Amino acid sequence: MCGIVGYIGHNRDIRIGLEALKRLEYRGYDSSGVAFYNKETKQIDSMRAVGKIVNLEEKMGGLDLKGSPVLFHSRWATHGNVTEENAHPHQDCKGNVFVVHNGIIENYQQLKDKLIKEGHTFTSQTDTEVIPHLIEKFFEGNLEEATRKALALVKGAYALGIIARDDPNKLVLAKYSAPLLIGIGENNEYLAASDPSAIITHTKNVVYLEDGELAILTSIPGGFSIEDYSRNPVKRAPRETEWNVEDAKKDGYAHFMLKEIMEQPKSIKDALRGRIVLEDGSVKLGGLEDIKEKLKEVERVQVLACGTASFMGKVGEYMFEEYAGLSSKGDIGSEFRYKKPVIDKKTLTVVISQSGETADTLAAVKEAKRKGSPTIGIINTMGSSIAREVEQGIYTHAGPEIAVASTKASTAQLAVLALLSLYLGRQRDLSLVMGQRMGKELLRLPELIKKVLERASDIEGIARKYENIKNLWVMGRKYNYPAALEGALKIKETAYIHAEGIAGGELKHGALALIDEDFPTIAIVPSDSVYEKMVSNIQEIKARKGPVIAIATEGNEDIKSTVDDVIYIPKTLEMLTPILSIIPLQLFAYYLGVLKGNDVDKPRNLAKSVTVE
Ligand code: M6R
Repeated sequence: MCGIVGYIGHNRDIRIGLEALKRLEYRGYDSSGVAFYNKETKQIDSMRAVGKIVNLEEKMGGLDLKGSPVLFHSRWATHGNVTEENAHPHQDCKGNVFVVHNGIIENYQQLKDKLIKEGHTFTSQTDTEVIPHLIEKFFEGNLEEATRKALALVKGAYALGIIARDDPNKLVLAKYSAPLLIGIGENNEYLAASDPSAIITHTKNVVYLEDGELAILTSIPGGFSIEDYSRNPVKRAPRETEWNVEDAKKDGYAHFMLKEIMEQPKSIKDALRGRIVLEDGSVKLGGLEDIKEKLKEVERVQVLACGTASFMGKVGEYMFEEYAGLSSKGDIGSEFRYKKPVIDKKTLTVVISQSGETADTLAAVKEAKRKGSPTIGIINTMGSSIAREVEQGIYTHAGPEIAVASTKASTAQLAVLALLSLYLGRQRDLSLVMGQRMGKELLRLPELIKKVLERASDIEGIARKYENIKNLWVMGRKYNYPAALEGALKIKETAYIHAEGIAGGELKHGALALIDEDFPTIAIVPSDSVYEKMVSNIQEIKARKGPVIAIATEGNEDIKSTVDDVIYIPKTLEMLTPILSIIPLQLFAYYLGVLKGNDVDKPRNLAKSVTVE
């Protein structure tokens, strides 16, 4: 997804911003660019390149590139092909105003038609290009003033970085429905970024902009101010971001995805830390204190999320029904926002997102709020748009997740969903004994996960055996049906193999027709309440010569005679089995992707954070 980096301060090498931009590479992009004020020529210089950021770096190579202010951008195409002309920064007709933009300008076509009639010349197919031309139209020497007037005409989502040759000591930022923050550097240096990970090597002191705010950065002491579009000043103290540089490195692993899979004992521990009160068989969730009484009145749960997070939400549905006795239903954000959802103040909306920036999930939560539903976010990224939109939140504390394919953040979401079902359950009929049992079993998870990870090389061996498959079912029931959906998504994302998740009971309703000796199935078959049913499904597949890899509970020797390969997971409470069964699926997907020579950290066509619809 697009990335913004800005800098204003001393007249220093602009590569300071390039290094920050590279930290955003994990988000996915297809081209990049830079614009900076050259104090010698008193002009803004600009360069753009298609492909990797190193292509831009090569273009910048031999030049003496000192300047301030500076804007960098990495683009993930939405309007217009991947070309140099469509890459940001975009400029006005006079080479005065330069703009980088994340988001989508919804009324750009009307604005563009009007601007063309007024004599402006466009050079790209992007929605973004209307912004510099609109600013040009209103520019009378003061950049923020012109920006304010321009934005009054714009509809859509945007994080904007803007500089102007004829008002050169400013970097102007504006935000609406797309993340943007200011980094406070030393010696009157300021940075801007769409994601805190870009600037953590420079500063941990950040100020997040809110929707409808404009920031003016200048390189003088106290040199930033924030105001709303009506010029009312906004006072917001900087806060320290929780991200640190170590988190963003690979720690010797070949890929971030593997590092993040291996970090799960720690991420689960962090998600649970200080939250389980064993003596009361309950949990302490600080974020829910203010709505404790409201939550007692809730009669239903609506879960909202996209992709992997939606599958984790589906596991949550089973948990809320079984342990809190609450009717529960999940929707993907992109569908929910266009439905006529029947929810009210008695329906608790639980929103799940790693990035906290997924546009569809954000829109869905806004709709739920509009209907009067109390909202709780299960979010990984502090201060993100969804974290700020929900009424209350429970952070997952999984740490930054860099690989596009979600791993540690998703199991942390499951751990938090289990905590929430325990919390809601104890407000209702869940017994002290059961609450204590859940609490104890949750606390064992980090050790159990370590045992699963010790089997990584066995799983790699199994991946080698199935390296050339073209299709795959991942099959599960009850809590492990969503785990199957997640396993299949992981395999699609990293190995580019056609894989589908299926509920065991659905096999006979059509899917069985595909089974033959070349169509393997991964069956998630822990020793739980649906074990026998799953074994029957496995028999149906074996009777048609389909190869089966089982994910089974340690100690189950019987399964070996039925299936072709077995991956064992330790025994735990049925509701927690997905946390353990998903991990071998992550590893299987990872090794298949590596064997195929794929860029597993940045799968083709995908972005880490989907901030457009
Ligand atoms: O940041 P979010 O959790 O809101 O992201 C939701 C999905 O885009 C995300 O889970 C996606 O499906 C991942 N690529 C899965 O690995």
